[in-house]
Amino acid sequence: MKLLFDIVLTLHLLGWAIVLGGVLVSMRPPKLPKGVLHGALTALVTGILMVGLADMSDELRDPDMAKIAVKLVVALCVTALVLVGVRQPERVTTRFLGAIAGLTVLNVAVAAIWR
Ligand code: HEM
Repeated sequence: MKLLFDIVLTLHLLGWAIVLGGVLVSMRPPKLPKGVLHGALTALVTGILMVGLADMSDELRDPDMAKIAVKLVVALCVTALVLVGVRQPERVTTRFLGAIAGLTVLNVAVAAIWR
């Protein structure tokens, strides 16, 4: 179970790396690559999966549900923004992309600092 959890965690981190990297390299001119949506969805699904795996397993520490709730709200905002940006490219500005990047960085900080 621990190995499966770590593989899913790897995908989770790669997903957010794709979101952050994809947004940062597309700031000027502002556009939202489709891959960013795949990254966000992968990361969202793997995050939820890890909560389930940790809950099911005796050897894994149960995640702090308050932290998970904060991360989930922020991640849903990120995913919603990415979805809007992919469906309506005319709404994508540098500030719009900055909001996606900023919220993603906020969640990395929550994940790293709140343990
Ligand atoms: C923008 C959104 C997100 C970012 C940037 C992010 C980032 C990270 C990072 C950097 C880690 C590694 C830190 C560590 O292992 O201590 C991590 C772990 C984890 N994430 Fe996320 N995450 C996000 C959203 C989510 C969501 C939505 C969920 C679940 C609903 C989730 C669940 C988890 C879990 C269970 C771990 C394993 C370690 C722990 O319990 O904290 N994450 N995430």
